[in-house]
Amino acid sequence: MYCIIGANGYLGAYIRKAVLEDTDEDLICVDRLIPETENEKRVSWVNCDITDREAVDSLTEELRNNSDLKIVYLAAYHNPDLVQANPQLAWNINVTSLSYFINKAYFAKEIYYPSTDSVYGESIDFYHFKEGDPLNPVNIYGHNKCAAEAIMVHSGRNVVRFPFLISPSLAGKPHFYDRIVESLKNGKPFEMYQDSYRSSLSFENAARLTIMLMEKGNRHSIVNVCGDKDLSKYDVGLLLAQRENLDPDLIVPVNMGEITVEGFVTKRATSTLMDNSLLKEILDLEYVDIFERPKFKA
Ligand SMILES: NC(=O)c1ccc[n+]([C@@H]2O[C@H](COP(=O)([O-])OP(=O)(O)OC[C@H]3O[C@@H](n4cnc5c(N)ncnc54)[C@H](OP(=O)(O)O)[C@@H]3O)[C@@H](O)[C@H]2O)c1
Repeated sequence: MYCIIGANGYLGAYIRKAVLEDTDEDLICVDRLIPETENEKRVSWVNCDITDREAVDSLTEELRNNSDLKIVYLAAYHNPDLVQANPQLAWNINVTSLSYFINKAYFAKEIYYPSTDSVYGESIDFYHFKEGDPLNPVNIYGHNKCAAEAIMVHSGRNVVRFPFLISPSLAGKPHFYDRIVESLKNGKPFEMYQDSYRSSLSFENAARLTIMLMEKGNRHSIVNVCGDKDLSKYDVGLLLAQRENLDPDLIVPVNMGEITVEGFVTKRATSTLMDNSLLKEILDLEYVDIFERPKFKA
């Protein structure tokens, strides 16, 4: 049995899909807002706010009845600008509530937690961070994630570090991907950074690879789950235009130091790149593309 905490979000929707498509297991989905309809027989929904101790107590009491329970814990307060504006609220959701839940869910066979490349800080000269490298976050969100990782690792649980994730939303709320598509469909230009690099990955591949690690019984406490290529946001925009048969000339390259295009307020690293060789070794992968299915070694 799988359980996803924060199942109604961008990544949650793709993890649901990956569990249903790539395993035979049933799924308990938990969120503070749950969809009104669910036609999938293998899925049941539970309403729970993870900051509410009594609600978490009754949720974990219910979950205890499932043997071999595998949990993916996604609920978070993760917009770096909002985290900086509301640091106590962020700590309560991202660290205190996570810690309470992990302690209560001691019986689970596995618990996976999605961290971020933000824990590493700035990549100098296109350096690709490895799992054991020192952590050097540049904002409070990154520090929250470091604290959350420590809780996971020191309670014997698993962390996957994701890069910038981008896909069409399946979550009933538009994602950055959908905003770019809408702009291009309306013939409007869309500015994207050409000097800010990430080892970007689709939500679909992030979810698929996470479930592959869980099914494999991975014993590495932290794994970078990211694509092979160093992609600027502008590169991602061009790939997206190609994928959606839209005009790539409407993707306009701009520089991060010169212009603010995504409403960013809090400092972000200009570039953060990750090394995915551990992931590839564990799963016997040849190549991890941003959008295409990961390729196994022949
Ligand atoms: N997206 C990325 O590029 C990326 C990259 C690296 C790591 N991550 C990590 O992946 C995780 C999921 O991200 P996402 O992009 O899927 O975000 P998301 O769409 O906001 O998903 C999080 C889900 O958790 C829910 N949630 C938040 N607070 C909750 C609470 N107190 N109780 C119960 N549910 C709560 C959210 O509900 P509301 O919508 O009501 O808040 C949402 O449905 C986060 O930990 C994030 O830091 C994401």
